[in-house]
Amino acid sequence: MTTSIADLAGGPDAFVRLVDAFYARVEQDPVLRQMYPADLEPGKEHLALFLAQYFGATDLYSSRRGHPRLRMRHAPFPIDPEAAGRWATHMLAAVEDVGFAPEVRAAVEEYVVRATPTLVNRLPGDPPVGLPAADGPMPTT
Ligand code: HEM
Repeated sequence: MTTSIADLAGGPDAFVRLVDAFYARVEQDPVLRQMYPADLEPGKEHLALFLAQYFGATDLYSSRRGHPRLRMRHAPFPIDPEAAGRWATHMLAAVEDVGFAPEVRAAVEEYVVRATPTLVNRLPGDPPVGLPAADGPMPTT
């Protein structure tokens, strides 16, 4: 049996600590806080389960939430490069906060840097979400 990053981190609870540290920063972020719902608890739990699963701990995320489909799940949120940068900055700072072992830290950092840009779904200057483009219907593909 191979040792997963989640094992090296000390098990699924390590990702609960990481997500707590991350959300403490999101709560102070004027751009990101307004994207998140009033009740942060369900999202915190989902993110911690997702990360634990991604890094090899349990399949609990998928058994509760189904396939991650992260781009689809993020489609309702206007994630431009600035928002994505803020998200990644807070997650990288949270990795520091929790004091992961170097190999865990490197793996989480590498994932965050690689995955965050894939969730960008808007560019500066795009019309606000929900409004049709000025010169015609929204493209559907
Ligand atoms: C590595 C990058 C990211 C990962 C792995 C990630 C992962 C997740 C996961 C697993 C969820 C919960 C999905 C569910 O309900 O099952 C979630 C929700 C969410 N994410 Fe992300 N995300 C990332 C980047 C971002 C970025 C860049 C933003 C915005 C700037 C963002 C904003 C949100 C919001 C607003 C929610 C909803 C939270 C809630 O409903 O309480 N995420 N994300």
